[in-house]
Amino acid sequence: MEVIIKSDKAEASKLGAKIIARLIRENAKAVLGLATGSTPLPLYRELVRMHREEGLSFKDITTFNLDEYVGLDPANPCSFYSEMHKNLFCHLDLAKGASHLPDGMAKDIPTSCAAYEAAIKAAGGVDLQLLGIGHDGHLAFNEPGSSLASRTRLKTLSQKTIKANSRFFGSEAKVPRHVMTMGLGTIMEAKQCVLLAFGKDKAEAVRDMVEGPVSASCPGSVLQFHEQAIILLDHEAAGKLTRKQYYLDVYASKPAWQLWE
Ligand code: F6R
Repeated sequence: MEVIIKSDKAEASKLGAKIIARLIRENAKAVLGLATGSTPLPLYRELVRMHREEGLSFKDITTFNLDEYVGLDPANPCSFYSEMHKNLFCHLDLAKGASHLPDGMAKDIPTSCAAYEAAIKAAGGVDLQLLGIGHDGHLAFNEPGSSLASRTRLKTLSQKTIKANSRFFGSEAKVPRHVMTMGLGTIMEAKQCVLLAFGKDKAEAVRDMVEGPVSASCPGSVLQFHEQAIILLDHEAAGKLTRKQYYLDVYASKPAWQLWE
C-alpha cells in the first residue's frame, strides 16, 4: 500500500485526478472502475476541468461502476446511474454505451451479476479502480463479513450504511435494503486501486484498513494484498494511523521519478 497524506481533500483529489489523467494519456483505451458517494466528487470535478481546459479525452475510455441499488429506477435521482450521469458522464466525451453500472432493475439478479463480471473481463479488466471506504470499512458495498474472494452479487446493506446513506434519500426508511456490488475478489483484479478517504469520521476505518489485520471484518483491509493500492488521505482521515509520520516522510523523500505529480 502506498499511503499518501495531503494537506486537504482538495489536494488529495487533485492528485487522484492526476493519477487517472496520466493513465489515460498513456492508454487512451483504459478501463476505469468508478465509485459513487460524496468522496470522489471533487476528483470528478477535477477530471471535468481537465477535459475542458486541458483536452483530456475520454472518447475511447470504458467505465464500470462498483455498485447500484436494487429496485431503484435509473431515472431516480438517488440511483448511482443518475449520480454518475449528473456528476461526471454528461460532462465528458465518453462514447455511447461505454459506461456500465450494475442493473439494479434486473429481473434475474444472479444472471445479471455474472453478465457484469463477463463484461469487465471482455473489456480486458479494470486498469484503475477508484474507491471510497465506508465508516464500517466497507469497500463498494461489501459490508463487514463479506468474503475476501467475493464476486459481483446481491448484498444487504448494514444498518450503519443505511444510516450514512439516508442523507441522499431524506430518511432511513427510503434507503433500499439491497444492492448489487462488485465483490472484493472482483475489485482485487483491477491492475491498480486508488482509494480516497477524507475527514475524521473515516479515521477508524482507515486505520483498520491500513494497519489492522487483513480480515473480512474490515473489507477494506483486503487491499493490503493488492500489489498497487494507493491510499489518498487528508490529515483528518490519517489521524489514527500509528505510522502517519512515516508515510509523510516516505512521500517527502521520494525520488522525482516515483512521484505522481
Ligand atoms: C460507492 C461505494 C461506497 C462508498 C462508501 C463511502 O460506490 O462503493 O463504498 O465509497 O460508502 O461513501 P462516501 O464517499 O459517501 O463517504
